[in-house]
Amino acid sequence: MATTTDSIPPWEGLALKPLARKPMNHRKESGKSIMLERYPGGDKGMKRIAVVTSGGDAPGMNACIRAVVRTAIFQGLEVLGVERGYKGLIEGEVEALTRRSVSGIINLGGTILKTARCEEMRTKEGIRKAAQTLIENRIDGVVVVGGDGSLRGAWELFKASGIPIIGIPASIDNDVAGTDYTIGFDTAVNTALDAIDKIRDTATSHERVFIIEVMGRNRGFLALHVGLAAGAEFILVPEIEYSLDEISRELKEAREKGKRSSIIVMAEGAGSSPKIAREIARKTGFDIRLSTLGYIQRGGTPTAFSRYLASIFGSEAVKLLLKGKGGLMVGIENGEITTHKLTYAWKRKPLDRRLYRLSNLLAT
Ligand code: F6P
Repeated sequence: MATTTDSIPPWEGLALKPLARKPMNHRKESGKSIMLERYPGGDKGMKRIAVVTSGGDAPGMNACIRAVVRTAIFQGLEVLGVERGYKGLIEGEVEALTRRSVSGIINLGGTILKTARCEEMRTKEGIRKAAQTLIENRIDGVVVVGGDGSLRGAWELFKASGIPIIGIPASIDNDVAGTDYTIGFDTAVNTALDAIDKIRDTATSHERVFIIEVMGRNRGFLALHVGLAAGAEFILVPEIEYSLDEISRELKEAREKGKRSSIIVMAEGAGSSPKIAREIARKTGFDIRLSTLGYIQRGGTPTAFSRYLASIFGSEAVKLLLKGKGGLMVGIENGEITTHKLTYAWKRKPLDRRLYRLSNLLAT
């Protein structure tokens, strides 16, 4: 069950006076020790936190770094930025961040701290080294901004170090459980949509069928949202079975009824797009074109919604650390800011099949 963090909206938290260095609250979460007895800030309270962006970058990560840094400084904390994700944490690459370090970044895609995929963080040795960096730099709390893999790493690090860690979901895939939206998803949807709208122009002019492959790893959230918004005739996602015979039959029928072009949006995890394109071409005899949008979806100016989420999540994460919380992730569910234990992040998040059915209905 989700719990709302408290009755104070996060933005109101910003109006609070800087916290005095109160002793941290050594609480237990879910009846299990969260190892706060090894918490280095101890009774002296939190002084210094670190922020790390990890895994695939997502537009809005910079807005999130800014929110973490400025909220923390406002509350009297020092902030260190970890460079190159967990790789940098393992190798001890940290730098002090000030209010000025995060000036003019709210509108930038990518992450100023840089990021990396880090295999070493999946090993005990990697986690030990990362924990060592936290201890050596006298870091009392950490905010990890990333996707489900990064949040797993955050949990392992939290268990191993006993240092409070709060995870913030950021990924264009939107595949993190415990939140309706991740930072970056809305931007990626809009970037893909913009590309598809352009492709539709040429599809209409040439009377072609286009297959457009979007990212999403092994989940279909991005494809579903993009497909619905683009008015795609078909959406292929890994979660829902599809039949190429059926799709080909429907494409032919639609053409007989006068529909001269169609858009099929497919998730990268829904199969091999070149193979699907060849199959549909063979079954229909139509001129099929394939366009893979690729990494364009990961970059660009974050949308207002991505920045909004990033700002609220970042501020909320710092607030949680100050309250002595660790091993949690923040999210937004039904419009409310919620928290879950970090382990919730990689539970299987359900795809809203109603959107799929709606898209089918509207495309006919
Ligand atoms: O998780 C974000 C994502 O862009 C996925 O959609 C995609 O499958 C993957 O990352 C690509 O990973 P990499 O950046 O390691 O090539």
